[in-house]
Order: sequence, then structure tokens, then C-alpha cells
Amino acid sequence: MLLDGKKISDEVKAELAEDVRQLVANGHRPPHLAAILVGSDGASETYVASKVKSCEKIGYSSTLVRLSENVTEQELLKEIDAINNNAEIDGLIVQLPLPKHINEQRVTERVVPEKDVDGFNPINVGKLVLGLPTFVSATPMGIIELLKRYNIETSGKHCVVIGRSNIVGTPMANLLSRNSNPGNCTVTLCHSRTKNLEAFTKQADILIVALGKAEFVTANMVKEGAVVIDVGITRVEDSTNSRGYVLKGDVKFDEVESKCSYITPVPGGVGRMTIAALLQNTLLARKNRVTHIKYQNHVS
Ligand code: GUN
Repeated sequence: MLLDGKKISDEVKAELAEDVRQLVANGHRPPHLAAILVGSDGASETYVASKVKSCEKIGYSSTLVRLSENVTEQELLKEIDAINNNAEIDGLIVQLPLPKHINEQRVTERVVPEKDVDGFNPINVGKLVLGLPTFVSATPMGIIELLKRYNIETSGKHCVVIGRSNIVGTPMANLLSRNSNPGNCTVTLCHSRTKNLEAFTKQADILIVALGKAEFVTANMVKEGAVVIDVGITRVEDSTNSRGYVLKGDVKFDEVESKCSYITPVPGGVGRMTIAALLQNTLLARKNRVTHIKYQNHVS
């Protein structure tokens, strides 16, 4: 069965739009997300455009700051500081990857934790590891939401994650091993140095694939009845397509689908949920501010 990221993300967005209506009806301004895009990488352009468009659709304000490929790290940090200090903006994302001359760590550390709706600031990553409330990185958060809304049992299941990135694999492994629902999985985190990967993937009740290699996972690597979550989205050249490329996941969908109990398509799976999660985090950022304002009113 397909895990329909489009359908579920549309549900989430409709709920968020309703929340915004209420916020505005109560005299507050809507949530405001700022995105910084450095350079003109085709995939990043598409992702950021889609984030901004989703904001508009559900009644959020958005600001897109475009910087040249040659921007210095100092200039980028100055832009971040300006948004950090702008009380009209609730959430800030800096689209990754950044050009080689810019240190991504310094950039993600510069976004103040209160506006870090990507959950990349070390303070927020640390809170996630400790199980404290925080902004959870959007892709793993979207996957959790998808599992939740399809009522997929995770407790006691063996979850195998392929890929240990800071953005997806590592927080995913963390969230699913937690005492929560979804959660309570026995998690194996596999990566590029894992020996005999197939021996692990074949044991997976839930297989989460986030290594960024088109059609890497084949049917022989998957257990009958597994839940397969495909995080990959790679542009593969295809001259028969008008765009000159097609999008492929990390899973060879055509041969794996029939073996699974559930599988996410690409596109229309995890990518959609990532955007929905970012919007959820942005509302949370706005509400934290609203709560703060109320608290100040209350004590004064
Ligand atoms: N690049 C790939 N995924 C992401 C994401 O979730 N957020 C940002 N900012 N950049 C990304």
C-alpha cells in the first residue's frame, strides 16, 4: 500500500491553515518564515520555491532572501543576524548545501534556536537527543507524522536506517529508538562502512533509506511485508522527459513495491511531508512568541 505523502501533507496543511485563521481572528499576525538561498542550484531552487509557495497557500507570510554563489560567509552571517533580530519573522531556514567556501556548521549555529525551524542548531539537536521539546529536523519529523497518521505499529519493531546524515539518518534513528509512539523500535543505523548491508536490511520491519543513491535498494534486500520509507530524491538524466531528467528515489520502487506492506513513492512521499513538518515547526515558532507575548502581558 502506498504511503501517500501528498494526501497526508494536504491534511496537515489544512489543519495549519485553520490554526492560522484562528490566530489572525484573535488579533495576531500570521506566522512568517524566512528562507535564505545561496547560489542557483536547480534542486535547491525547486525546494525553496515549494516551501515559499506552501507558506502562501496556508496563510503564512514568507520572505525569500537570495544571495549570490560568491557571497562571503561574513555577508551570509550578517543576513542571518538581521533576521534573528527581526521581531516580525518567526522561523529561518538556510537552504543546504552551501557553496564550499562557506562553513555550514558556523551558519547553522548562527540561526538562533528560537527561530531554527529546521532543527539544525546544536542546541536543538542536543534537546532532540535528550527527548526535550524542540524543533525536530523536518524530514524525520515528517516521516514520524506519516507513520502516525497511517497507524503503523512501531513498538518492538526492528527499524533499519541507511544513512547517518545529521539532517535525516541520525535524528531518525534517535526518534524511533525513543520511548514514544511512534518509537520504541530497535534501531540499526547503517552507513557507508557497514559490512554486508543486505544482512541488516533483510531483517528490517521498517526500512528507512536516506543515502542519496538512486535505486540503491533492490527487492532482494527487503523482507516480505516490510514498511519502506524512501527519503532519496535524485535527478537522473532522461532525454525522453521534457525537463531532461526524472526524479528517482533510493529504492527501486517497481521491484520493491510488491514485497512491502507500505511504501512511500518518489515524488509524492517523504518530500511532501518534509515541507508539512517545516510549516508545523514555523507555527510552533510563532506560537512560542505568542505565548511569550501573553506571558509578558500577564506579568505586567
Ligand atoms: N537541504 C536538504 N534538506 C534540507 C532541509 O530540510 N532544510 C534545509 N535548510 N536544507 C536542506
